[in-house]
Amino acid sequence: MLFPDSRGRRLRANPNFRRMIRETKISRDDLILPLFAIEGKSVKKPIESMPGQFQLSCDNIVKTAQQAQEAGVPAIILFGVADKKDSLATRAYAKDSIVQKAVAAVKAKVPDITVITDVCLCAYTDHGHCGVMDKGIIDNDASLDLLAKTALSHVEAGADMVAPSDMMDGRVAEIRQTLDEENFSHIPIMSYAVKYSSAFYGPFREAADCAPQFGDRKTYQMDPGNALEAIREATMDIEEGADIIMVKPALSYLDIIYRLKQEIDLPIAAYNVSGEYSMMKAGEMMGWVDAKEVIMETLISIKRAGADLILTYSALDVARELNA
Ligand code: PBG
Repeated sequence: MLFPDSRGRRLRANPNFRRMIRETKISRDDLILPLFAIEGKSVKKPIESMPGQFQLSCDNIVKTAQQAQEAGVPAIILFGVADKKDSLATRAYAKDSIVQKAVAAVKAKVPDITVITDVCLCAYTDHGHCGVMDKGIIDNDASLDLLAKTALSHVEAGADMVAPSDMMDGRVAEIRQTLDEENFSHIPIMSYAVKYSSAFYGPFREAADCAPQFGDRKTYQMDPGNALEAIREATMDIEEGADIIMVKPALSYLDIIYRLKQEIDLPIAAYNVSGEYSMMKAGEMMGWVDAKEVIMETLISIKRAGADLILTYSALDVARELNA
């Protein structure tokens, strides 16, 4: 039907019509809130490159988890800021290290919120890479055992789900096998399966103090030009036992989210990463955009592309906004 019989504007005429026919809506159920845990008491240290985000000591992680729970956010994902770094990333898998303590603290005080942990070595290695080094090269296979140990230590501390973000080949299988052997076959793995080598991670590297001390992450994270490879990476991780497939970053990769949604039948998560967050906040600070509006529009675009879950630093604000 053509104009004048058909008129697109009829159903845009008032807020109720628009509400009734909106195809994609953001729900609190879609949101996962990333938090940065650091040693100490009552620490709430602003992350300069991420306005509104903080490095939090365990007591404040618990408080924020409580607020997230009250706002209706179902899950948080924890990152650790290491107290010590070494060549074998020993603080990544030590029982008394920061993520393990933060997980236990949240599970003791806010048991009903889902606690996911980021599993990686980069915040704990002295060189800042996501695997261990052998003669200047990142040794894939030697890193697997340490990643599996890290995941196991998180789960032993009480984590409900683990999320490997290192991009070493074979790590999902290794983690799955380790968890199964240790009677954690019920714990799901959300794999950062499709993780691009991206400049949008810049602010995060300040937040987690995990910038590589030399070189870059291009030998393990994906090349931004590749889409077929995304399907291959996702397929491999599904075969290895992943339960949720993540695409990261989100905004420059909406086509990848869309393609994966057509190709695979697992839930898809998208990470609205630090650089994406900080650009919107910077625009707001300059008075150029309304951050609340652009954040909501951004999240809708990610969901419309096909994401079932969205990791976003705005999760708490957005959940509160949805409740208002
Ligand atoms: C650790 C990790 C990174 C992010 C999540 N896990 C950084 C990186 O790979 O360099 C980025 C998250 C963000 O930018 O918000 N490997």
